[in-house]
This record gives sequence, C-alpha cells and structure tokens, in this order.
Amino acid sequence: MNAIKPISPDRLPDLLRSMPKAELHIHIEGSLEPELIFALAERNGVVLSYSSIAELRNAYAFTNLQSFLDIYYAGASVLIKEQDFYDMAHAYFVKAAADNVVHAELFFDPQTHTARGVGMDVVINGLHRACVDAQNELGISASLIMCFLRHLSEEDAFETLEKALPYREMIIGVGLDSGEVGNPPEKFAKVFARCRELGFHLVAHAGEEGPPAYVWTALDVLKVERIDHGVQASKDALLMQRLAADRIALTVCPLSNLKLCVFADLASHNLMHLLDAGLAVTVNSDDPAYFGGYVNDNFTQTFAATGLQAQHAYTLARNSFEASFIDAATKRQYIDRLNACFESFT
Ligand code: ADE
Ligand code: ZN
Repeated sequence: MNAIKPISPDRLPDLLRSMPKAELHIHIEGSLEPELIFALAERNGVVLSYSSIAELRNAYAFTNLQSFLDIYYAGASVLIKEQDFYDMAHAYFVKAAADNVVHAELFFDPQTHTARGVGMDVVINGLHRACVDAQNELGISASLIMCFLRHLSEEDAFETLEKALPYREMIIGVGLDSGEVGNPPEKFAKVFARCRELGFHLVAHAGEEGPPAYVWTALDVLKVERIDHGVQASKDALLMQRLAADRIALTVCPLSNLKLCVFADLASHNLMHLLDAGLAVTVNSDDPAYFGGYVNDNFTQTFAATGLQAQHAYTLARNSFEASFIDAATKRQYIDRLNACFESFT
C-alpha cells in the first residue's frame, strides 16, 4: 500500500464508514436493542421490571462496569429459544453489514443462559445458524468466541467447557469477561491451559477497569493472543513495550469506555496514544445497544473528538484484519479490499 493520502475533515466520516473492517469485540447479548428485548419478552412470556422501552432506555445511565452488567444480564433473560439467539445475532449482522463490517468474531456468554436452564445446544445452534446466514446473505464471515464469566468460579468455567465440547467445531476461541476488578486472569489459569491444549484461540478482557497487572497475567499466565480493552496498559511503560514488541492486538471500545466512565470524555481517550506507541489497536463496539452506537459510530465519534486522521483509519482497519482469527488467504483478500477502498477514495 502506498502512503495514505490526507483527506479533508469533512470527507473523513465517509471514509470511516465505507472502509471494510473486522469487528473483534462485540458481545452478542450486548447487541439486544430495547425493542427486541420487549418483543422477545412478549413472545416468551417473560416479565420485565421495566414497563416500557423508554423506561428501559432511561436506565442506561451507567457509572461503572458493574452498574452496566446488572442491566445487561437482566436484558439477556428474554433469550429462551434457539430462534431468539438467531434473531438477536441476525439483527446484529444486518447492522454490521450497513457499517461495512466484512468479518465479525462474536463473544457469547453461555453461563448467563445455562444458569437459567437454557441448553447449550439452544444457544450455540441459534448463534451458529445466524453466522452461516451472515455469510450466505450478507457476505460477512463470522465466528463465535465463548466467554467465561470471571465473577463465577473456575470450576463453573470447566463445567461450561464440558457442555460446549460437542459444539467444538462451531467455536473458534474462548474469552474472559464480566466484572474485572477482584477477578484476575490467573483465577482461570487451569481452564485456559486446557482450552489451549484443545486448540482454541485465546483472548481475555484485561485492563478495562483493572490494573496493568491483569494485562501481564492475561499474557503470561493465560497466554492470550489478544487483549480485550487493555486501555489501562498506558499506565505501565514496560507493558506498552511488550504489547508493541509482540504485536498483541488491543480490541478497544471507545464508546463503551465513555459510557462506563473509564474516560471522562472521548477527547481524553488514549486511542491515539496507544497507536502512536506502535500498539496493534482495533476499534470495536463492545455492547452497541447499551453504549449508544455500533462500530461506525465508535469510529466517527472518536475521530471527531481526538483529531485522528486517514492514516490512523487505515492502520485501525488493517489491524482488525491482521488480528482476526481468519485464514491467511481470506485475510489477504480483505486487506486487498481495504487497499482498494483507500486508493479509490476521493
Ligand atoms: N460483558 C459484556 N460487556 C462487557 C464489558 N465491557 N466488560 C466485561 N464484561 C462484559
Ligand atoms: Zn467487552
């Protein structure tokens, strides 16, 4: 790729929207829009503690990660049947296609569902069918990453792994999410070691609210290939060097960080600092139905607030493909498409 041409500020949002990109950090349960929550509640006879869509939306005023998780797990309680999981993921893929997402790796939280008596088969078959249709109907390649809830025990994670093994071929990797502080990565050392033996790709949320020490142990104990969030790494110069040297991707989610009060405003987000330090940063939506925007909203709002330029846009989109778990040939095709987009953009 030749040097990236500078682009006038008024054309930058169009470039950000039209460039092909991969989304690597999206909790599919976090794509449940209030309208769909109410529709599924009615379909399944689930009683919600909010009387209207507007009342539910009004509750989306978070002060930290835990204040969000409480509402997010309540929202997921409307998911009962395979078709519900399909409908949720299909709605996400339609939005992703409109944002020119060409590849997506979806997190899902099986324990949120199995603890309510919903079968692992129901969860995975519904999500997998939506992934297959995303490829056939929308041209999006998609895969599933199963996350363990870190506020639960490692034993519970092992039981979840056992239940998921019959669906091994439908899961590309495992991750670690939920309340971070007080639940360090090393709590899950044994189950991640087992998943590594089984050939799963490994990722973990670390350094979202938690300290740089959690990013170190995600790397050195869990041996993850990517860090989800990781924005707290900027507090540790040695860790920044390590992440840059090993090309460990950070799946950063600016609107999530804003809504969960990790940064006071988007202008103070450290995305540019992480990029300038040579880290393999990507931009993602995390829980778009709760945080006010899908991936293109994350790009356009963050670029507007921080002064990032076309060169950064190219790097971020390219990183999203480089850091993805797709095969080398498909990766090359996506990067060629990205290059063509930048070469023809006027
Ligand atoms: N689960 C859903 N969204 C999450 C986030 N931002 N951090 C940790 N766990 C989550
Ligand atoms: Zn997340």
